[in-house]
Amino acid sequence: MSLHLCNPSTFASLLLPISTSLLSLTTAPVTNFSASVPAAYRLTAPAISYTNLSFCNVTLSYTHPGQNDSIIIEAWLPASALLNSTTTNRSTSIWNSRLLAAGGGGYQAGRFELSYEGMKGAIGEGYATITTDAGLGYSITSREWALLSEGNVDLYKLQNLGSVSLGDMGVIGKEVVEAFYGKKPEYSYWNGCSQGGRQGVMLAQRYPGLFDGILAGAPAVYWSEALGGFEWPQVVMKEMGKWPNSCEVSAIGEEATRQCDGLDGVVDGIVGDVEGCLDSFDPFEMVGIEIDCTDLEGRKVQITEEAAAVVNKTWHGRERADGRQVWYGLTPGSDLIVNGSGIAVTNCTDGRCVGKPNPLGKDWFELFIAKSSTFNVVNLSRIELDRFIQTSKQEFGSFVQTDDPDLTEFRRQGSKMITWHGLIDQLLSPKATERYYQQVSAILPETQEFYRHYEVPGLAHCFGGPSGNPTGLLGQLRAWVEEDMVPEASPVNVTRLDGQIEARIVCPYPQKPKLDTSCAEPSGGCWSCEDVARPSLVV
Ligand SMILES: *[C@@H]1O[C@H](CO)[C@@H](O)[C@H](O)[C@H]1NC(C)=O
Ligand SMILES: *[C@@H]1O[C@H](CO)[C@@H](O)[C@H](O)[C@H]1NC(C)=O
Ligand SMILES: *[C@@H]1O[C@H](CO)[C@@H](O)[C@H](O)[C@H]1NC(C)=O
Ligand SMILES: *[C@@H]1O[C@H](CO)[C@@H](O)[C@H](O)[C@H]1NC(C)=O
Ligand SMILES: *[C@@H]1O[C@H](CO)[C@@H](O)[C@H](O)[C@H]1NC(C)=O
Ligand SMILES: *[C@@H]1O[C@H](CO)[C@@H](O)[C@H](O)[C@H]1NC(C)=O
Ligand SMILES: *[C@@H]1O[C@H](CO)[C@@H](O)[C@H](O)[C@H]1NC(C)=O
Ligand SMILES: *[C@@H]1O[C@H](CO)[C@@H](O)[C@H](O)[C@H]1NC(C)=O
Ligand SMILES: *[C@@H]1O[C@H](CO)[C@@H](O)[C@H](O)[C@H]1NC(C)=O
Ligand SMILES: *[C@@H]1O[C@H](CO)[C@@H](O)[C@H](O)[C@H]1NC(C)=O
Ligand SMILES: *[C@@H]1O[C@H](CO)[C@@H](O)[C@H](O)[C@H]1NC(C)=O
Repeated sequence: MSLHLCNPSTFASLLLPISTSLLSLTTAPVTNFSASVPAAYRLTAPAISYTNLSFCNVTLSYTHPGQNDSIIIEAWLPASALLNSTTTNRSTSIWNSRLLAAGGGGYQAGRFELSYEGMKGAIGEGYATITTDAGLGYSITSREWALLSEGNVDLYKLQNLGSVSLGDMGVIGKEVVEAFYGKKPEYSYWNGCSQGGRQGVMLAQRYPGLFDGILAGAPAVYWSEALGGFEWPQVVMKEMGKWPNSCEVSAIGEEATRQCDGLDGVVDGIVGDVEGCLDSFDPFEMVGIEIDCTDLEGRKVQITEEAAAVVNKTWHGRERADGRQVWYGLTPGSDLIVNGSGIAVTNCTDGRCVGKPNPLGKDWFELFIAKSSTFNVVNLSRIELDRFIQTSKQEFGSFVQTDDPDLTEFRRQGSKMITWHGLIDQLLSPKATERYYQQVSAILPETQEFYRHYEVPGLAHCFGGPSGNPTGLLGQLRAWVEEDMVPEASPVNVTRLDGQIEARIVCPYPQKPKLDTSCAEPSGGCWSCEDVARPSLVV
């Protein structure tokens, strides 16, 4: 396919879903396109670099008549650069006959930096690729669109973000592909993390069969509890009436990593034995220790009881007002501060500290639950948080909760899904994804035939940390969908404490990677997947 067909008339007779109406469509031939995308931004595929690629950039906007929304879908269609050729054979093309959709992040459905990085990676491998903004524009937070007026949430926008834009994008994306190449994609895939992971799981639940293969990293499923988890450390501090310096919280986490590192048999900067660490490392033993506090211009402070309590409660997970533990915590070794963007952050000026809730949770509870542009969650009590989370599920469960474990139809359609989650995720508990897998398994015991889950030790939220991304998963998903090759172990590169890169593996749940200790020089061949009994997480 050549770029001479990259003009609006090629797309003049798109068959859009009955619920939609096209507003505009533009095309732009792009030539001499170069990109270099690191593995981290491709999430589940290796780094890629290329020059001089050409593709057709199709951008269309549509509305759901009566809803007064305006959603943009952007598609990049690889094509040969012979701009005015009329002889190019439709079946000889640099297109690999597949569609790969890129997911969003935070409150963005797509059309932002990370989805564009994913799309650059995709066209580099010959995929046609798409993204949607769900009608939310370029705004990074939800402040610009959450409220129609005080007290009134823009339900259609939330519904578009939650699910509807995803179904539309799959259907419309395939139409765009067919109009350009003369045939539908042979296979369609989804690749996303965080919000993008939630979108992937939503597609499996609500639009089964639309995508043949779904990769969902650190998915924000159980949305209400997930965002409640962001607030939990702040509620703990409010209850104590003391807000410790962030550096104290960081120091406890770093010491836990040091002390627990070897519990799994390998000293590598990664806490592999999370339960063992929770049992053996007591944050309260750090109380009184003097540390250099960078957020106090390098002043020395002593670690306080309150800092230890915040860390302990954040690791154990949210408790209701009646004391019952109702959600999962973050893992020892995860960064609760992340240079001011974590969930246990405080803001200290002149020796006085206040809470600094993470914006993702803050926006959810202030705008969608309190439905107010002026409400401040900073002093939320435990009873209030319980109630906010309940309200969230009552009012928005079907919009964003994304926790339906009945994947019967997804399975019947022959689709496949892989979820993956870093075990030092600093925002979303990896146990939530584990729980989702367990819930699906409880309904469909043959889960492994169509859905596999990979835990990634030493990986932070979507990327970062001592472990690299599981860059084999996209290829493995394709082989599973197209050739029925079931994914087993998947490679990762781990940066050891000595700076050396070591090839390791991650394993399909419930297996865990195990090191053969007789191996002289640890490398990929020294690791294997071992069956491990996993306790039931369903509360
Ligand atoms: C193609 O892109 C490269 C790198 O951006 C640039 O150096 C080169 O001048 C471009 N070639 C043309 C013909 O535009
Ligand atoms: C594709 O076109 C849209 C709409 O004009 C534009 O916003 C976007 O930057 C273009 N992307 C590329 C890679 O050219
Ligand atoms: C539709 O949205 C536009 C801007 O997004 C706004 O100006 C207009 O008033 C809305 N119409 C209705 C009927 O709400
Ligand atoms: C870039 O691609 C065009 C069209 O395919 C080709 O004519 C040109 O020689 C290529 N340039 C380089 C530097 O490879
Ligand atoms: C189309 O291709 C012909 C022959 O390759 C060339 O002479 C002509 O300039 C091209 N036209 C355009 C508009 O690029
Ligand atoms: C187009 O390419 C295909 C595959 O290479 C070939 O079988 C077919 O004969 C070609 N058609 C034309 C019209 O050249
Ligand atoms: C840590 O938190 C857990 C869960 O709330 C609690 O059971 C335990 O007593 C706490 N540890 C200490 C030393 O306070
Ligand atoms: C931490 O945040 C500060 C202020 O926002 C910024 O200047 C600094 O570059 C950040 N450091 C890292 C390591 O991201
Ligand atoms: C911390 O609080 C001060 C004083 O209230 C405020 O000016 C500043 O913007 C806050 N900093 C951050 C990073 O929130
Ligand atoms: C939160 O509580 C602190 C301490 O009681 C108080 O100083 C502050 O004004 C409160 N903030 C808000 C927004 O209510
Ligand atoms: C590990 O790093 C090597 C060298 O950079 C690279 O070729 C390989 O693809 C990486 N493996 C994974 C699983 O990312």
